Amino acid sequence: MFAVRNINSRLVLAAIGNRWHSTEPVRHVPVMAEETIRFLKPQNDELFIDMTFGAGGHTQEILRSAPKAKIIALDRDPVAHEMAHTMSELFPGQIFPVLGKFSELPDKLEKLGIKQRSVDGMVFDFGCSSMQFDEGSRGFSISKDGPLDMRMDKDCDTDTPTAAEVLAKIDEIDLTRILKIYGEEKQAKKIARAIIEARHTIKSIETTKELADLVQSCFENEDTRLDKLKRPSHSATKTFQALRIFVNNELNEINYGMVLAQHYLKIGGKMITITFHSLEDTIVKRHVMGNVMNDMANKLPLRYNSHTICHDQEVMETVMRSPWHPLTKHVVVPTYEEVDNNPRSRSAKLRAVVRVV
Ligand SMILES: C[S@@+](CC[C@H](N)C(=O)[O-])C[C@H]1O[C@@H](n2cnc3c(N)ncnc32)[C@H](O)[C@@H]1O
Repeated sequence: MFAVRNINSRLVLAAIGNRWHSTEPVRHVPVMAEETIRFLKPQNDELFIDMTFGAGGHTQEILRSAPKAKIIALDRDPVAHEMAHTMSELFPGQIFPVLGKFSELPDKLEKLGIKQRSVDGMVFDFGCSSMQFDEGSRGFSISKDGPLDMRMDKDCDTDTPTAAEVLAKIDEIDLTRILKIYGEEKQAKKIARAIIEARHTIKSIETTKELADLVQSCFENEDTRLDKLKRPSHSATKTFQALRIFVNNELNEINYGMVLAQHYLKIGGKMITITFHSLEDTIVKRHVMGNVMNDMANKLPLRYNSHTICHDQEVMETVMRSPWHPLTKHVVVPTYEEVDNNPRSRSAKLRAVVRVV
């Protein structure tokens, strides 16, 4: 029976493909889906929150494994939210789409009547989806030109400046810090200087290509850059990462997401996290090891950002008494086969923990 209702994510994507002005809808392939289910062990009568619905790959796998489970499908991106709606029609009364960020979730759960300590499992698959990365109009892509936007919640959060607006206003010292800390960019100073100088020499930087070309021009006489796996990478990769993290306030959101998991999971409830770079993984690791620092995700002045996250002392003190027990001895990484089939999975690290107190 389930096979009949099984979702063809390509069809779901096609249903809303027009919105992205693409001839071919971009498809997101879920990362470490099999491992996620192995640790989550979903059961039919259980309630889950897919904290990063995206194209619903992990939600789909949970339902494949436990066809009667219920899933709250959160995403801050209206495109992903629309996909969650489309998928929820195929699973009436089982998928509950919620539009918003981690930091907005408590209010939304209250409206759904979800109490603290009532959830059986939460999945966090951090970062951007392929629909965001590969669609030029979203402004995340180095290779596809588009407006320099980078807001995951484009059109929802009108207070959040786009990456272009950040670059038009920010001072050199702050920009250098953003590139250095969020992009781990060794040439942060040089790039920041070029961006600030460009304000006087050319018109403001408004497209992804303009930014990518400008950063590349800083490295004209240098060898091709290699990523951590020694493959050639664009000189602007780290700059794009840094701006994206900053614009979306991503590290504070992850920090807050970890606090939420502690509040909403019941004892015995499981949390699965999939991270894609060390900044994300460090935050998760500190939470699951009970080594939380109050300001660990808040290294930068967020005065260019709409900053809605509280760091309540009492909440942070509760978190410091770690309630987690690891389900794996080491972090789990994708198989060679998965990396081959889905190169985007190459830097992924999965952690699985169970709530014990
Ligand atoms: C890597 S994708 C998830 C893909 C999904 N697991 C799948 O298999 O299709 C990450 C998603 O999380 C969303 N996201 C990132 N940070 C978020 C936050 N703080 N609150 C809500 N959604 C967030 C992004 O908009 C994106 O759609």
